[in-house]
Amino acid sequence: MDGREKGGAAAVAFEHVSKRFGDANAVDDVNLAIAEGMFVTIIGSSGCGKTTLLKMVNALVMPDEGEVLVHGRATSNADPIGLRRNIGYAIQGSVLFPHLTVEQNIAYVPTLLNSGDEDRTEAAVKKWMDIIGLPRDIMDRYPAELSGGQAQRVGIARALAASPDILLADEPFSAVDAITRASLQDEIKRIHEQTGITVLFVTHDIDEALDLGDRVLVMEAGRAVQFAPPEEILRAPATEFVNRLVSRKQSVYAR
Ligand SMILES: Nc1ncnc2c1ncn2[C@@H]1O[C@H](COP(=O)(O)OP(=O)(O)OP(=O)(O)O)[C@@H](O)[C@H]1O
Ligand SMILES: [Mg+2]
Repeated sequence: MDGREKGGAAAVAFEHVSKRFGDANAVDDVNLAIAEGMFVTIIGSSGCGKTTLLKMVNALVMPDEGEVLVHGRATSNADPIGLRRNIGYAIQGSVLFPHLTVEQNIAYVPTLLNSGDEDRTEAAVKKWMDIIGLPRDIMDRYPAELSGGQAQRVGIARALAASPDILLADEPFSAVDAITRASLQDEIKRIHEQTGITVLFVTHDIDEALDLGDRVLVMEAGRAVQFAPPEEILRAPATEFVNRLVSRKQSVYAR
């Protein structure tokens, strides 16, 4: 450990983190510690800073102020390539490599590429396609030949195939139907339980946020207004916005 490592056992910590774009505060003085193995769901209105917050974990965006610590080490002090090797990122809108097939997209991770063992790579790709519920017959297709929901699931399989210890998922289930979504929610829970991976999961769906999260982070205009277990979010909403978010849920969950 060098002198900059701190933050104890937190997988990810934000210490007075702010990020501005022009005059706008995308992220405004956020302080959080996310313990190893925690499943954090992040919810808030469009433009409140959720994607920006995620991108600061894998150094795609650097804070203007404060520090983001990953396993105790400041991102400003880490090699971004090495950092990203252990962080899976399922991007909002699922951006796949357009010139690579589904199989090549999922296999496009250092651990798989470095092994140089094609049979092993193919087996791993098939394993993740099965887990995520993708039909085998799309393996040789290109992203332009997939439905939006299929492309999104390929993005999740690609993010997980590297066996990262942190998963950043930005509205990963927004383009799939309700039934597929329910089964993907079960899968991500199972993967989380089995692997102990730390998950930061952005969603616009309060049911999904409350159901999946060990902790729910509610953001409002760049600020982290509440970071608490689902029961506490329901029982004691910290702001009027959180109150509105959960007001129709309280009666349901109280049953
Ligand atoms: N590269 C950028 N340049 C300028 N402004 C940006 C940039 N990225 C984000 N912003 C602005 O920062 C704010 C936060 O954006 P962000 O993408 O983090 O929001 P979000 O919570 O993910 O929204 P959504 O729910 O719509 O995905 C917005 O006002 C957005 O317009
Ligand atoms: Mg976003």
